[in-house]
Amino acid sequence: MDRIAVVADIHGNRFALDAVIDDLEARQVDEVIVAGDLVGRGPQGSEVVHRVADLGWRCVRGNHEDYLLNFCRDNVPLSWWEDEEWAASRWMARELDEEAVAFIESLPFSLHSKLAPSMQIFHGSPNSHSEGIGAWTPEQRLEQFLQAIDGTILVCAHTHRPLEYDSPRGMIVNVGSVGLPFNGDWHAQYAILEGQADQWEVTFRRVAYPRQRFLDHYRTSGFLEEGGITAALLYEEVKFARPFLVPFLKWADATERLPRDAHLEEFLDLYDPDQSLAEFFAGLDDNKRRPSMP
Ligand SMILES: [Fe+2]
Repeated sequence: MDRIAVVADIHGNRFALDAVIDDLEARQVDEVIVAGDLVGRGPQGSEVVHRVADLGWRCVRGNHEDYLLNFCRDNVPLSWWEDEEWAASRWMARELDEEAVAFIESLPFSLHSKLAPSMQIFHGSPNSHSEGIGAWTPEQRLEQFLQAIDGTILVCAHTHRPLEYDSPRGMIVNVGSVGLPFNGDWHAQYAILEGQADQWEVTFRRVAYPRQRFLDHYRTSGFLEEGGITAALLYEEVKFARPFLVPFLKWADATERLPRDAHLEEFLDLYDPDQSLAEFFAGLDDNKRRPSMP
């Protein structure tokens, strides 16, 4: 029997990563793979990359690796160097040292477990590292994904919400997020797959970590102050373990506001993080949204 751990979406949260490393030591796993998004959406990107590199864990590339690489390689529109909306990304890109940049630049789109070659790991879906597989994905689509992979077990992340799907064709496991879960549970989350050949069982782990120290680091590092509206929304995401950034951007777009700090309080008054996005938009007064929004 082999025990393979897949961790993902650490998002520059060294405190959550350390707690997972301790938990993994106690569980004596044979292989650890990172399913992308080591960096972005959090202030400790370099530390996370160095820790993972030192441990020799193999990683795939997430969409946030690409976002920050674009900044590091000056491959973004000129306005992104000035707009408040991008202040947090600029800060996180500056925080990455050259070694960390070279490491994330080397990451592949997907890889196979060394112990279980039938297990293929992606950040998002077999099509894109920005396409999430979640409870909302239709069964037909899930079956298409299983058909598309080189193997029978598809392991993914990106949605920050754990998921298991079993079918005669194989299995899909979304491992959830270490550093920034969106399922309302602030614990660092990851998955252990245990088994052999095509028989695998999944255990979803949730591990406590010193979250207040991480939130304090938002302030002491300067990320909260210098990262503008985006850093403020990410701070809320850590506190509530729910998405705030994307709902805010959609709300700002729907109400024709610019995504600026001035609108933060107004948004926080309106937004219930336990509602789905569709419910949130359905609950807005007609005069606060454009008719085209859900
Ligand atoms: Fe992510």
